[in-house]
Amino acid sequence: MRGVFYVTTPLYYVNDQPHIGHAYTTILADVFARYHRLWGEEVFFLTGTDEHGQKLQETAAHAEKKPQEFCDMMVERFKELWRKLEISYDDFIRTTEERHVQVVQKVLSDLYQRGEIYTDSYSGWYCVPCERFWTEKDLLEGKCPDCGGAVNVLTEENYFFKMGKYREWLIEHIQSHPDFIKPETRKNEILGFLRKGLGDLCISRPKKRLSWGIELPFDDNYVTYVWFDALLNYITAPGYLSKPERFERYWPEALHLIGKDILTTHCVYWPIMLKAAGLPSPKTVLGHGWWLEGGTKMSKSKGNVIRPWDIIDKYGVEPFRYFLIREMTLGQDATFSEPSFISRYNSDLANDLGNLLSRLLKMVESYCDGRIPEPAEGSDEDRALQKLGSETSSRVREGIENFKLNSALEDILQFVRATNKYIELNRPWDLHKQGERVRLNNVLYNSAEALRLASSLLYPVMPERCSEIRRQLGLKEDKVSLEGTKPWGELPAGIRIAPGEALFPRAEIKKVEVTSKMEAKSEGVKIVSFEDFQKLDMRVAKVLSAEKVEGTAKLFKMQIDLGTEQRQIVAAIAEYYQPEDLPGRNIVVVTNMKPVKIRGVESTAMLLAATEGDKLALLTLDKDLPLGAKVS
Ligand code: MSP
Repeated sequence: MRGVFYVTTPLYYVNDQPHIGHAYTTILADVFARYHRLWGEEVFFLTGTDEHGQKLQETAAHAEKKPQEFCDMMVERFKELWRKLEISYDDFIRTTEERHVQVVQKVLSDLYQRGEIYTDSYSGWYCVPCERFWTEKDLLEGKCPDCGGAVNVLTEENYFFKMGKYREWLIEHIQSHPDFIKPETRKNEILGFLRKGLGDLCISRPKKRLSWGIELPFDDNYVTYVWFDALLNYITAPGYLSKPERFERYWPEALHLIGKDILTTHCVYWPIMLKAAGLPSPKTVLGHGWWLEGGTKMSKSKGNVIRPWDIIDKYGVEPFRYFLIREMTLGQDATFSEPSFISRYNSDLANDLGNLLSRLLKMVESYCDGRIPEPAEGSDEDRALQKLGSETSSRVREGIENFKLNSALEDILQFVRATNKYIELNRPWDLHKQGERVRLNNVLYNSAEALRLASSLLYPVMPERCSEIRRQLGLKEDKVSLEGTKPWGELPAGIRIAPGEALFPRAEIKKVEVTSKMEAKSEGVKIVSFEDFQKLDMRVAKVLSAEKVEGTAKLFKMQIDLGTEQRQIVAAIAEYYQPEDLPGRNIVVVTNMKPVKIRGVESTAMLLAATEGDKLALLTLDKDLPLGAKVS
């Protein structure tokens, strides 16, 4: 029977802009899905968006949109990015879809009937952005320990899920299922968390506070807590209610890929919800580390969020996919920087892989009339290369199955390097000169076959470029498979090669050339490098309101909308504009300035204006663009 593989990404909050962290998990899932497809398995790859909750309700209100309308608009950003990143998902689920609402309500009704849910009054410190209560001792300097934001005391009558009574069961389950939480460090983290005790879970929100959610089937004054809603997507999509047979085939194989910050919800709440509902736990939850920038976690307030588009537009989609998979050891954090991206790109892709293809094609063109030569009985060196090829295939499979993707890629690149070395040692140019036809044919055939194999092994990471390698080698059909392939010799002799554009042209950090004329003209003005200029994150924002800062003549306090968030800025423009002139205008702001307090008022961005003498004009746009659009 064909193997089954079911892989999921988290459902991304639809009110956020997709960033490199979201791109990473989704690419990771895609790479897993593509490998398993190449091994001939039946694959179900699920991604989607998390669309309920307080934050969404508030962000939609700021944008003056109804929540559903806002979600419909924002979900397109994710879908567009996934298209661009070549994400081959089989299903995209949104938590506002009817199929999902039905599952959430069915599970809630079942649990309620079985006495797994009760009412109680609860009082605690509540954090709005994180949508959760904290106890006094959880707080860090009186603030939310997760986001560092303000918290308020809130008392409410709510519904609770009897989670605490499953603590012992869960500890036992984790210990007896070594594959359940990966890697080991995350498993220990969860066991440590459980050893401290486990309370029940508040699973409702009163509609008077939050209306944007799935209504509780047994009390229409409440909606469901967003996590209790969102996690159930993993059983909705494979067909828990709608296609029981399909569900039963996929569910036992589920692999959830998540970031380490959502470990507790996936490794504690989720298996207990399933257990209480009479369903088995997923096979594996894999918690990966974070992508850091400059050694710290990316965050909007620090202004160091890396947007996938910025890298893709400059260097291409597939090198970006390659870098993310190659550079992160699953489980650990990794740092993204443009110089490290370029250095990895140049060494692995431009030098090792790209050069192998171009030098090989040149030799086949010049020495064999552009046709892949017929090999004969090989030498020990040929057999050693073949052996390394089949060992590499096995190691790659082992690496993927054990979630060691970076080492699998390194194995493939080692094989590519070994092929380059094989060419250097066997010197086809000398064999050609000396008329050693048989040996020459063998060396060129084996090198081409090695490259074909490497391109199949790399296909899940760079599908388009690997197809291009196959095309240039002269293969007509783009039917890559890693299942039951002949260990060596799949490349037919005699086919005509089709050299094309360089696959991975060398990359450099693009610098702006400063001419001597410009330097002369800019005397007294500090010249900055292009990299320095790029450090500024400038965006389009709409002015929502403006008012004078009390006791000052020049300062306005303004609220601005960046599309996905609202900020406050203080600007010295009160002598040039009236407060009512500004709301509704689209201006340009620098968003990654260090927040400052001006006359006691916090300013978290800086607007751009031109000045000359006693005149000042705000930079505005001559066309409409979405709020948050990057200015460069
Ligand atoms: N909506 C929830 C998930 C519900 S799943 C039923 C959520 N969404 S999220 O959009 O905030 O985050 C999605 C994922 O992105 C999480 O796995 C999170 O760990 C990951 N990342 C966010 N920032 C990240 C990095 N800087 N690096 C890597 N992944 C990061 O949580």
